[in-house]
Amino acid sequence: KEAHAAEFERTFIAIKPDGVQRGLIAEIISRFERKGYKLVAIKLVIPTNDFAQKHYHDLKERPFFSGLCDFLSSGPVLAMVWEGEGVIKYGRKLIGATDPQKSEPGTIRGDLAVVVGRNIIHGSDGPETAEEEISLWFSPNELISYSSNAEKWIY
Ligand code: TYD
Repeated sequence: KEAHAAEFERTFIAIKPDGVQRGLIAEIISRFERKGYKLVAIKLVIPTNDFAQKHYHDLKERPFFSGLCDFLSSGPVLAMVWEGEGVIKYGRKLIGATDPQKSEPGTIRGDLAVVVGRNIIHGSDGPETAEEEISLWFSPNELISYSSNAEKWIY
C-alpha cells in the first residue's frame, strides 16, 4: 500500500510533570517510535494553571479537577503529536488504563506508574479530542510534515 502522510490520523500525547521528573522521556518516546508511529511535533512547556484547566475542561465537575490542574501545571510537560494508522486508539493501548493499578503490564502506565494521580502520560481519547488538544497545544506551523524512510517498510 502506498503511504501518504496526509491520510494518517494524529493524536496528542503528553508526558506529565512526574514522567519528565522521573527521567522517562526517552523510554516513553521509544515505545511510540518502535511501534512505527511518527513524531510530527514536540515541545517542553510549563503550562499555566489556566491552560491546564482548558486542557481538562471536560473534567471540571470532577472532585479531582483542581488537584489535577495544579499537578499538570507544576512542572515541565513534554507535549507531542504522533501520527500513523490507528494512532489514537492504539496510543491509548500503549498507555494503558487510567488507573495504573488496573493497567496491564507491558503498557506504559502498567510498567512505569503506581497511582492514578501520578500516571505519567496523557493521550487523546478520540478523534474530536485529538483535534481539539492538538490545536490547543500547538500552532499549525509546529506540526511538521515529512516523509520518513521507515514508512515504506511499516506500511
Ligand atoms: P481521564 O480523562 O478520565 O483519564 P485518561 O488520562 O486515562 O484519559 O482523567 C484525566 C486524568 O485525571 C487522569 O489521567 C488522572 C486524573 N484522575 C484522577 O486523579 N483521579 C481519578 O479518579 C480519575 C478518573 C482521573
